[in-house]
Amino acid sequence: MSHNTFGHLFRVTTFGESHGIALGCVVDGCPPRIPLTAAEIQRDLDRRRPGQSKFVSQRKEPDQVRILSGTFSDPSSGKELTLGSPIALVIENQDARPKDYDAIAETYRPGHADYTYDAKYGIRDPRGSGRASARETAGRVAAGAIARKIVPGLVVRGALVQMGTKKIDRSRWDWDETARNPFFCPDAKAAGEFESYIEDVRKKGSSVGAIIEVVAESVPAGLGAPIYGKLDAEIAAGLMSINAVKGVEIGAGFGAVTLSGEENGDEMRMGDDGKPRFLGNSAGGILGGISTGQPVVARFAVKPTSSILTPRKTVDRYGRETEISTKGRHDPCVGIRAVAIGEAMVACVLADHYLRHRGQVGEAVSWPFQKPGAK
Ligand SMILES: Cc1cc2nc3c(=O)[nH]c(=O)nc-3n(C[C@H](O)[C@H](O)[C@H](O)COP(=O)(O)O)c2cc1C
Repeated sequence: MSHNTFGHLFRVTTFGESHGIALGCVVDGCPPRIPLTAAEIQRDLDRRRPGQSKFVSQRKEPDQVRILSGTFSDPSSGKELTLGSPIALVIENQDARPKDYDAIAETYRPGHADYTYDAKYGIRDPRGSGRASARETAGRVAAGAIARKIVPGLVVRGALVQMGTKKIDRSRWDWDETARNPFFCPDAKAAGEFESYIEDVRKKGSSVGAIIEVVAESVPAGLGAPIYGKLDAEIAAGLMSINAVKGVEIGAGFGAVTLSGEENGDEMRMGDDGKPRFLGNSAGGILGGISTGQPVVARFAVKPTSSILTPRKTVDRYGRETEISTKGRHDPCVGIRAVAIGEAMVACVLADHYLRHRGQVGEAVSWPFQKPGAK
C-alpha cells in the first residue's frame, strides 16, 4: 500500500493498523533546535483519543506517545530540542479487540472501505478496518503538534459547528467553550442540544454527520505556491484525506455563490501598522492560492458513521447477498474526534508551506509597497 506520506519539506509518514501492535508517524524535515516534548504532543492526542466521553467510541486507548528519535536533551539550554533528523513517534495499541470483527470479516459494511480495499488489494485487515480505521489519524495529530511549532506564533483551533441537523448560533461563538464541552462546540447552548440529540441517535443504533470549522491565526501573508501548490488546494487535500470527509470549504465556500461581488470581495484599507487590512474575510485568508495574512478559515463535512447497529443490505466477499449489523465500539458521530484531526492537517500544510516559502523567497514576507514616487 503506497502513498502513506504527505507534505514536501515537512513530510509526514504514518504507519500502523487499528488493532496491530502500534501505530505512529515519522516526521521528516522538521527544522533543528525547536523545543519539543512528548507532553506537548500528548495534549493534542488527548483531544482525539477514543473513550473520552459517552458520545465517542468506548475503546479505551491512552494513546500515550513516545518519541523514539529526532530530539535531544540539550545540555546548554536544558531543553529537549529537535535535531533536524527524522522524528519517529510511536503509540501502542492497548485495547485492541480483533475478535469483535470476526462476524464481519468477510462481509462488506455499506459506507465503509471494506469492499474497496478488498477490490484493490485482494486482502484486507478486518480488525477494526486496519489501515482504513481513523486510528491512523493518531499519527497525523502527533505530527500536527510538531507542525504547530514551526510557523512562529501560529494558532490553529477547530470547532464543531453542526451535528446532523443541529447547527450552532454563530453569534454565541466562544472559543473557550470548545474546551468545556465534550463536542468541541463553541456555542454552549448548542452543545447542550447536541447532547440529547446524539444520545438519541446512539440509542437508536444509528449515526449522524457533522461540520467542523478550523481557523488558523498568525499565518503570515505569502504562504502558498501557485499554480499547482496553492495553499487552499493543499489544505482541501489534507482535510479531504481524513476518514469520512465528504466536503471542504474555504472562507465563504459554497455560500459565496449567493453573495454579490460587492459582498464577497473583501475590501481593503490601510491599518495602523502601515500594512493593508481587509474589511471582511470571505476569501478565508487565501487569494490566488497565497495567504493574505488574515485568519485561514476552512470547514469540512464528515458523513455519518457507517458502522451502525441497524441491519443493512450488503454482499460478502464470495458474492452472496446478506445483511449486516455492526456491533462493537464505534463513534455515533465521528465529527467530534475529527476536530483535533482537522486542526492537525491544517497545521501540517501550513508548516510545509512556511518551509517551502522560506526555501524559495526567504525568511519573512516583507511589505513590498514603496511610498509613491520612491525609486
Ligand atoms: C475520528 C474518526 C472516527 C471514526 N470512527 C469510526 C467508527 O467508529 N466506525 C466507522 O465505521 N467509521 C469510523 N470512521 C470513519 C471511517 O474510518 C471511514 O468512513 C472509512 O475509512 C471509509 O472511508 P471514507 O468514509 O473516507 O470513504 C471514523 C472517522 C473519523 C475521522
